[in-house]
Amino acid sequence: MKNAELPPFIYGTAWKEERTAELTKKALTAGFRGIDTANQRRHYCEALVGEALVELKRQGIPREDLFLQSKYTYPQGQDHRVPYDPHADFGTQVRSSFANSLEHLHTDYLDSYLLHGPMYLNGMADPDWEVWAAMEDLQRSGQTKMIGISNVGLPHLVELCKQAEIKPSIVQNRCYAVRGWDRDVREYCLERRIVYEGFSLLTANLHVLADPRVAAIARRLKVTCEQVIFRFATQIGILPLTGTNNPEHMKEDLEITNFELSSADLNMIHAIA
Ligand SMILES: NC(=O)c1ccc[n+]([C@@H]2O[C@H](COP(=O)([O-])OP(=O)(O)OC[C@H]3O[C@@H](n4cnc5c(N)ncnc54)[C@H](OP(=O)(O)O)[C@@H]3O)[C@@H](O)[C@H]2O)c1
Repeated sequence: MKNAELPPFIYGTAWKEERTAELTKKALTAGFRGIDTANQRRHYCEALVGEALVELKRQGIPREDLFLQSKYTYPQGQDHRVPYDPHADFGTQVRSSFANSLEHLHTDYLDSYLLHGPMYLNGMADPDWEVWAAMEDLQRSGQTKMIGISNVGLPHLVELCKQAEIKPSIVQNRCYAVRGWDRDVREYCLERRIVYEGFSLLTANLHVLADPRVAAIARRLKVTCEQVIFRFATQIGILPLTGTNNPEHMKEDLEITNFELSSADLNMIHAIA
C-alpha cells in the first residue's frame, strides 16, 4: 500500500483474545485491508494478528497490500504484561514497544503508529512530547509511514499541530453522536487533512441505530441500519473501524461503498443525535 493510500474500512482486533488470529484471517479473506492493533496485551493479542498475516501471505495477500496500524500505550494503560521496561524513559519505551510490534506483525515497517492516548486530559504534557519526539524519529527513519494520536481532545490536538515538528497524520477517536459525531475534533482534522478514524460508531450510538428514521432509510435502500450508520460516517469524512466477529457482518460492513445517502438522509441522521 503506497503512502497516500488508505483502506475504506479498518478491521479492529481488540478483545478477541485467542480468536484473534482466526477472526483477523476471516476479515482479510472477506476483503479488509486495514488492520488496527496495539502492543497492549490487556485488550489486544498483537502477536496473533501477526500469525494471521503470515498465514494470509502464504495464501497470496502480501504485506504491501495491507495498511497496518499499531499503538504505543503508556504503562498506566497496560496490565502486568507490559511490552517494555516501564522504568525506562518514554523515548526508550516507544522504541522498544515499536520494535516488538514489528516482531509481532512480522514486518519491517508500519503504515501508521499511534500514541494510544495522551497522559492527561488537560493538554499535552512532557511525557507526551517525549513520546511524540520518538514517534517522529520512527517516521523520519521510514519505519512508519505516518504517526498519529488516539483518544484526543481538541486542545491536545491543536497544541500538537502547532508545536510538533511532524504533525499528526491520523486521529483515532470514539465517536459519540451526541457530540455531533465528535464534531470539533473531526472538523479540525478535515481542515488540516488529518485522517479521522472513528470507533464505537455503533456501540456508542445505540439510540441512533434504533431510531425508526434510520430504519426507514435502511428499508428504502435495502441495507441494514448498521450499514446506514457506517455509510453516514464515511460520508461525513470518518474512516470507520469495525471489530465485528461475524463473517456476514464483515461482508456487510465492506459493502457500504455500494450505496449512497442523500444530503437529506445525512441531515436527518445528524438531527437524531
Ligand atoms: N484507540 C482506542 O482506544 C480504541 C478503543 C476501542 C476500540 N478501538 C479500535 O476500534 C475497533 C473497533 O471497536 P468498536 O468499539 O468500534 O467496535 P466493537 O467493539 O468491535 O463492536 C462492533 C459491534 O458492532 C457490531 N457490528 C459490526 N458490524 C455490524 C453489522 N454489519 N451488523 C450488525 N452488527 C455489527 C458487532 O457485533 P458482531 O460481532 O455480532 O458483528 C459489535 O457488537 C477495536 O477492535 C479497536 O481496534 C480503539
